[in-house]
This record gives sequence, C-alpha cells and structure tokens, in this order.
Amino acid sequence: MTNPSKNAKLNAWVDEIAALCKPANIHWCDGSQAEYDALCQQMVDSGLATPLNADKKPGCYLFRSDPSDVARVEKRTFIASEKEEDAGPTNNWIAPAELKKTMTELYDGCMKGRTLYVIPFSMGPLGSPVSKIGVEITDSPYVVVNMRIMTRMGAAVLEKLGETGAFVPCLHSVGKPLADGESDGGKWPCAPIEQKYIDHFPEERVIWSYGSGYGGNALLGKKCLALRIATVQARDEGWMAEHMLILGLTSPEGKTYYIAAAFPSACGKTNLAMMMPTLPGWKVRCVGDDIAWMRIGDDGRLYAVNPEAGFFGVAPGTSMDSNPNALHTCEKNSIFTNCVLTPDGDIWWEGMGVPAPEKGVDWHGNEWTKDSGTPGAHPNARFTAPASQCPVIDPDWENPNGVPISAILFGGRRPSTIPLVNESLSWEHGVFMGSSTGSETTAANIGEVGVVRRDPFAMLPFCGYNMADYFGHWLKMGQKLRDKAPKIFFVNWFRKSPEGKFMWPGYGDNSRVLKYIVDRIEGRDVGVKTAVGILPKPGAIDTTGLDIAPETLAELTSVDTEGWKREIKGVEEFYAKFDGRVPAALMAELASIKERLG
Ligand code: GTP
Ligand code: SPV
Ligand code: MN
Repeated sequence: MTNPSKNAKLNAWVDEIAALCKPANIHWCDGSQAEYDALCQQMVDSGLATPLNADKKPGCYLFRSDPSDVARVEKRTFIASEKEEDAGPTNNWIAPAELKKTMTELYDGCMKGRTLYVIPFSMGPLGSPVSKIGVEITDSPYVVVNMRIMTRMGAAVLEKLGETGAFVPCLHSVGKPLADGESDGGKWPCAPIEQKYIDHFPEERVIWSYGSGYGGNALLGKKCLALRIATVQARDEGWMAEHMLILGLTSPEGKTYYIAAAFPSACGKTNLAMMMPTLPGWKVRCVGDDIAWMRIGDDGRLYAVNPEAGFFGVAPGTSMDSNPNALHTCEKNSIFTNCVLTPDGDIWWEGMGVPAPEKGVDWHGNEWTKDSGTPGAHPNARFTAPASQCPVIDPDWENPNGVPISAILFGGRRPSTIPLVNESLSWEHGVFMGSSTGSETTAANIGEVGVVRRDPFAMLPFCGYNMADYFGHWLKMGQKLRDKAPKIFFVNWFRKSPEGKFMWPGYGDNSRVLKYIVDRIEGRDVGVKTAVGILPKPGAIDTTGLDIAPETLAELTSVDTEGWKREIKGVEEFYAKFDGRVPAALMAELASIKERLG
C-alpha cells in the first residue's frame, strides 16, 4: 500500500522501524469499516478469531490469548527517565541507553513474516485543543482492530497531523517473528514474560512495547500514552492526566453534577460510570470509564475530557443486575477476549447472571463443562466496545472543552476500617487521601491477588514520574483552583463483615452515596467533622427501599480509631520510601491526622 502520510518525521520514523523490524509488508491504517472487516476476516481465516453468532452478537469476535499474556505486567513496565530518582521508588527504572540497546536487539527482525501496521490515532476528540496525537506501529492486527474501537483512528488523524504536526511515537511488537512459511497456526503470538517490556521514555515522549499483545501492554494509546506519558506532559503544561471515570449525575430537580472518580484497576470504575441508580428520579450518564484529562477552564473550574472512544471493560461479574448498560454496550460490534464460547456461538463468563452453558470452550481453547470446577473465562477477560453504543452515554461526552467537575472521588477495595464515604477537610487533606489510597490487588495485573497495597490516586502503575512530585503537582493545581476546586471524597464499596460478606450492596445503590455527595456539594448540613474527615450524620444516607441493618450503616460511617492508627502507620511507611521528597504540606497532613487520632 502506498504511504498516504506527508509528515516527514513520521515517514522517517516508519522507514527506520521497518528497516529494524524487517516486516514482510507495511499497511497504513485508514480506519475504515472495510479495513476493520478485512482484518477481522483475516484473523478468522488464520484461526485467531472466532466470529460470534450474528443473531446473538452481530459484528462480534472472540479471541483467546496466551496464558502468559492475560493482563498488564507491572513487573515488566519501565519508566526510563534519564535519572533514576525521576522515576521514583514506585516505578521500575532502567537507564534509557541501556534499555534501548536491549530493545533494539529484540526489535531487530522481530516482525519477520508479519505485516507492520501504522496506526495514526487521536486521544481525545479529533481537533479538540486538549487532544494528543499518537502513531502506533504494531505487527498485531488484533491491536489494530482494538485501537479502532478505543481511539479515533485513521486517515482523518493523518490529515490533522499534516506535514509538520507532532505525535507520540508508539512502537509495538508481539515479539514473535515467523520463519519462512511459518504461521501462528491460530495461536496467540507473544513472547515469554521475562522478554515482555512496556517501556516509556518520558523526556523524549516515546513508548516502546515488546512481547505482549494484551490490553494496556499493547493498546498503547491507553495506559502508556494517555496516562504514563500524559502525566509528564500534564505536569509540564499545568493540567492533570488521571485514572478516573467521569459521570454526569442528574438530580430529580434536573440539575446535573459531573463527578470524576479514581479507583484502582478492577475496582468499579466502569460500573460506577454507567450505573443505574436505585434511587428514583436520579440519572447517571457516562462520559468515560477509565481515564480523565482535566484542565482549568476560563471560568476557573476544572474541566474533564475522556481521551478514549471505547471501553476495555472487565467481563466477569458484568450482569444485567450489576451493569446492564455495559452489557448493552457490548452486544454488537465488539471484541471479546478470554471469555467462554457457548455451543450456540455466543459468549459467557462467570457472574454474567445467566446460567452457565452445559458445555463450551474455555479461555484456554479447551472443551469445558459447567461442572468442571475451573473458571471458563479468565478473571481479567475483557470486552472492547464503542463508547457511542453505551445506552447512557452523556450528550457532552465528546465536548472538546470537557465537562465541569464538581467532585472528585478516590476509592479502593478495603475490607476494613475505611468508611463508606469520607469527605476531605480541605484540598490538601484530599490530596493526602488520594496519596494514601490503598486497595486489594486484582487480576488486572499479573501477580498476587487480594493483598492490600498502597495505590496512590489509583495511579501506582500509571504515573510516568516520581510519585512524590506528582503529589506536589496535585497540590499546585489546588492552589490554582482555590475556591473553585471540586470537593474531594474517599469512598469504599468493599467493606466486609467478619463472615466475609460485602456490608454495602454497591452497584446501583451507590447512587445513595452520590446523592449524599450532592447534598455536600450544595452545602447542606448533613456531615459531621471527625478525626479522619467529614462523615455522614445519622440518617444522611438515603436508605429508602434498602434492606440494611442500622448497625451496619452505622459501622460503615463511623471512625474505627484503632484501624485508622494502623492505616496511618501504613501511610507513614509508604511516604518514607520517597526519601524526604513527599511535599511538606502532605507531611503536615500526616502529622495532624496522627494528632487528631490521639
Ligand atoms: P479497570 O478497567 O481495570 O480499570 O477496572 P474498573 O475500575 O473499571 O472496574 P469494573 O467496574 O470493571 O469492576 C471490576 C469488578 O468490581 C467487577 O467484578 C465488579 O462486579 C466489581 N464491582 C464494581 N462495583 C462494585 C460495587 O459497588 N460493589 C462490589 N461489591 N463490587 C463491585
Ligand atoms: C486497567 O488495568 O486499569 C485497565 C485494563 O483498564 S488495561 O487496559 O489492560 O490496562
Ligand atoms: Mn483501568
């Protein structure tokens, strides 16, 4: 195919990478439906994709990945800043020159027998002043079709780039060159774990990924560009790149409030973003489910844009009860990865809320029966679906200026101590709350699941520079926003009883907490100041129609002093890792909460 690009820098880069990776062909993606269909058909023919039954899931395909390639790999994710201290103690660091040497050897000839695809993409609505253009080079057609759903991609982006436009170069290879005449034989190509690399060069604003074809490791616009590289750009340019959903909440009176919320991976962002409130008269509309880019607008308020165009959502647990809007979003034109294939050509996963099929094909590609005792879908199985198909997509979701944010929430999976909702006493205290976010680990990363770790701002794996400096950036933004700053809350849907049951019903009933948050935004006197923050007064959470014991709700909204003392000790230990780099204002917050707890 001829090269449609007039951008000299892009053309030189593509030539350089083609010479290094030695692909059999080069394909410039135009982003058309015809191109998408042809690539899907090609993957069906090669045995990598299974088309789903057109009566059940029109335009949908199922993929099965390799067992070594089912989630992000934080262990193999690197921030290669010039200086190690600029990556900070929470990131893996390798000196850029050394890493480039290793990678160049891996990339040499890595695309043999494959096609090199050039994907021009925009994060954010094309042409919006806040959008950023990236170009991903990949040897994975699976990545191309996913990128078409997740970003604005193709010819229009090249046009926008013109002769001299700037872009973030994103290089990706599955790391599995083919010998002459060899094919993948329908198997997911990738490299073993210790050869996987997800590299970021923050000063140069360059991304190099090798060896994985899955999710955030391979769809480089998402976590790599829109978070890790964008955090660095945001720091330098005075805005914020955050791991946050954005929702619009409309009260029965018809007033809309936009809320952004940072929860760690697989901790409920997609669910909250498109939730069906159980409280009558309340409406939730979705702007985004994973990433928010936020800037201060001309009126001094904080405005958020969703840089993505699709959802890459956790499949297991998604049901008509928990998240009907997600199920409707992915009922057509969607890609499913690592789900069960049913005998009638549909997909199934654990927690879908419909009976398991008697038998099917599991995510390994093996015959599976519902009584086999093993999960049929991988816990991090995902759907890729166009955001425009979401039944509750917000009318302003593509507004180039974003939506004004009234409240910011932090949260995580905390089985004990952390209240259902806790409001910060000030912006600085809110930044302290964000910095001390902890959560049980999930299947979204390859590693141990269910252990509580600090995950500040839900950004532990996604911050492209020293997190202590990132805390400082948050403090600076507060100084600019002043009395226009959104209120900050910490929420926890995941408290457990001694029997291990969730104490709060969650999902649509989280609307009850959102209603309380609106009361606080409106300045209503429904909160009470405590040592740890402002908690709801008795009766402040609307429990109409909800079967919850008053003692349970009281426990969820009170201060467990001993638990908090342990919590604060954990934060202190975490801060100590930064060797004195944590901003003084946060050290002062730490000292004052210790004092308040006695
Ligand atoms: P990433 O895409 O990895 O960033 O995840 P996410 O934050 O969007 O998480 P998601 O909404 O997909 O939820 C992950 C898991 O948490 C699913 O299994 C949900 O069923 C579960 N979950 C979400 N909300 C709630 C809730 O309010 N209560 C409980 N108990 N579980 C929830
Ligand atoms: C996450 O892990 O936070 C995700 C999935 O949203 S991935 O795109 O793989 O990073
Ligand atoms: Mn995420």
